[in-house]
This record gives sequence, structure tokens and C-alpha cells, in this order.
Amino acid sequence: MTGSIRHLYVHLPFCAHRCGYCDFVTLVGRGGEHGAYVDALLAELRLEGGVLAPRLETIFLGGGTPTFTEAGALERLLAALPDADEVTVEANPETVTPELARLLSRNRVDRVSLGAQSFNTSLLAVLERRCEPEDVRRAVHDLRDAGLDNISLDLLYGIPGQSAADLETDIGQALALAPEHISYYELEAKPGTRFTHAHGEELDRQAEAMEGYFERVVEALVGAGYRWYETANFCLPGREARHNLGYWLGRDYLGLGIGAVSTLGLERRRNAPKLAGYVAALARGEEPPREVEALDEETKLRERLMLGLRLDRPLPLAGLEPAFEPAALARVERLGLAERRDDGLVLTERGRFLGGAVTAELMA
Ligand SMILES: C[S@@+](CC[C@H](N)C(=O)[O-])C[C@H]1O[C@@H](n2cnc3c(N)ncnc32)[C@H](O)[C@@H]1O
Ligand code: SF4
Repeated sequence: MTGSIRHLYVHLPFCAHRCGYCDFVTLVGRGGEHGAYVDALLAELRLEGGVLAPRLETIFLGGGTPTFTEAGALERLLAALPDADEVTVEANPETVTPELARLLSRNRVDRVSLGAQSFNTSLLAVLERRCEPEDVRRAVHDLRDAGLDNISLDLLYGIPGQSAADLETDIGQALALAPEHISYYELEAKPGTRFTHAHGEELDRQAEAMEGYFERVVEALVGAGYRWYETANFCLPGREARHNLGYWLGRDYLGLGIGAVSTLGLERRRNAPKLAGYVAALARGEEPPREVEALDEETKLRERLMLGLRLDRPLPLAGLEPAFEPAALARVERLGLAERRDDGLVLTERGRFLGGAVTAELMA
């Protein structure tokens, strides 16, 4: 049986250590369990793979730290995955060695998303990262030596202790590595976490500087020839993250692994985050424990509006009418926050800086 879904996400949750600000589904260490987890992922792929199209457009291995997965298990997983036009793996700089880079390259990985976060030693320490700025540079060189020519850097702004000058240095260091793609995120600190407790006052100070930081990031990266194609994402010509683009364009995707989400038509599935239950269910040939949410058409349209307006290309409005308020549309156009182009709607530069607030205003 074949289906029509062209995007596959695979979650590899293991990390060497848990960074204070991280809110993803991660597990520290668990060296002895990586192989069994990969067996379970492959069992889930056999069970659910019928929804996938004969040829996939993208596969994304996210984490956690996929490159912390024991090398034999990672290679077995990569070798067993179907072919795709783009295969991305997330990597932490300190895990990248020439051997790891070659392992990725010989297993059809053609894009690596490297979690740099910052090039400042003390800011990396605040984030509880396990790498030095030099590890990022070395990782990029190892990946390039192995033939990887599509590298993305993840960076953060609004880190406790960060100054405007620190931000300039980070931007300069990132550009010096000439990555094909940059994701520049505002650091989100969840209320009630250890990290937020430890850096409370400083996080408040950073919150006030965020808008200025964001504008500076956009100005500098666009000035360096990158296209600001999504709220937090920049690329050289033709180097958009095709996997994430599928998500922003509202395409369906299959997610495998603990905590993974799938959107299949009017159904959204969320696998439970517990490793033991996941591995045990799949060893019995059963579906993993998960929540299934029925999506109604209106929710789908609202999500489509919210995600689609993050892009720099016009969002076609035909069919989306129930999701927005016509009077609000006229209002945001009058305020110069959005404009009609090619039968679609696109936020203006001012609108894009306000982002979610404009989308919220538009929603019916
Ligand atoms: C889920 S992480 C996995 C990648 C890898 N383990 C790492 O840490 O680099 C993917 C990216 O999400 C971003 N991220 C993680 N936690 C964040 C937070 N609290 N706020 C903003 N971005 C965050 C980071 O830039 C990170 O590179
Ligand atoms: S390495 Fe990445 S996924 Fe793991 S805890 Fe740190 S931020 Fe989270």
C-alpha cells in the first residue's frame, strides 16, 4: 500500500546532557538503549509507512541530539530509511568528528542543521552547552570535508548576559562560516523552569531588548545576501529548509519516535514521550501509546493562516475565508502591515516584525 505523504520526521531523543533552557523530548545518556530504540523506530515505520508516497520529498532526523545516538544504531537507521530529495540531520557541534561526518554523507544525508547557539564562551556556559566556539568551526569544516554542502546553523538571541555587541560578534562569526542556511531564534524561557528561576531578572532585561535584536539579525543577514524567507529562517538562494517549508505550507507529515507528532488529514497524532512504553508496544507489533486529536476544517484553516503568514511568499486566500475577519484584513492592509500580491496575502516588513500579533488580529 502506498499513500501520498511526502515528509517524514524521525525523533532521536538522546542527549549527553540536558541544557537548562531545553523543553524538547530528550533523554540523557541511555547508551545501552539506543539500538532497541532504533529497532522500535523501524517497527513503527513498517507499521505506519503505508501512508508514505513512493518517493519522499524530505526526511528530518531531529532531537534530542541525533548525532549522539550510538554510531552503529544511527547508521542502521539511516540505511533503512526510504529515499528522499532532502535528508536533514540535527547535530550538536561537539559530536561532529570526521568519522561521523563521513557516516552521514555515505548514508545519503545531504543537509546538517548544527546547533551552534552562540560563539561566545560565557554565553554557551549560561546555556549549559557542552561545546566551545571552536567546536562549531571545526564541525563545519569536518562536514564540508565529507562533502556536505548544505549546512544550517541554529543561533539564539536574548541569552541572559548577552549584549548588543555580543550579538554583533555572533552574527559576524556565523557569517564567516558561510552556512547555506541560518535559523535565528529568540530564546524562549518557560516559566517555572530551573533556567527561568536562575536568570529571572536578566531574562526580563533581555525581553526588553528582543525587538531590537530581531531587527538587527534581519538587517545583518539580509545585508549579507540571505533571504529572510520565514520569520526566524534565512537562506542563500534555493537553500530553504524544504522539510520545514512543507510544515509551514500546511502539508501532512508522518512523525516517528517518542513525542513525535504526525498530521494526517483531519487527524493529529502525538506519540507519548516515555521510552519504555514506546519500545515495548512496538516489540509486540502494536501501535505506540499516543493521543489522537481530531482536527476540524476550521482549525486546519487557522493553522494554515498562522503558519503561511510566517513566509515571505504570498499565502493564497482562496478557501481561507472562514479563518479571517474581512474587516481585520482591511485594517491590517490600511496600517501597512500586510498587502495583497498574486491573489494572496503577505505581511509587509513591518508586519513581519510584529509577526504573530498581526495574524492574531486577522483571525476570525
Ligand atoms: C531541539 S534542538 C535540537 C538540536 C540540538 N540538540 C541542539 O541543541 O543544538 C533544535 C533547536 O531548537 C532551538 N531551541 C531549543 N530550545 C529553545 C528555546 N528554549 N528557545 C528557543 N529556541 C530553542 C535551538 O536553537 C536548537 O538548536
Ligand atoms: S542538546 Fe539540544 S535537545 Fe539536547 S538538551 Fe540540549 S538543547 Fe535540548
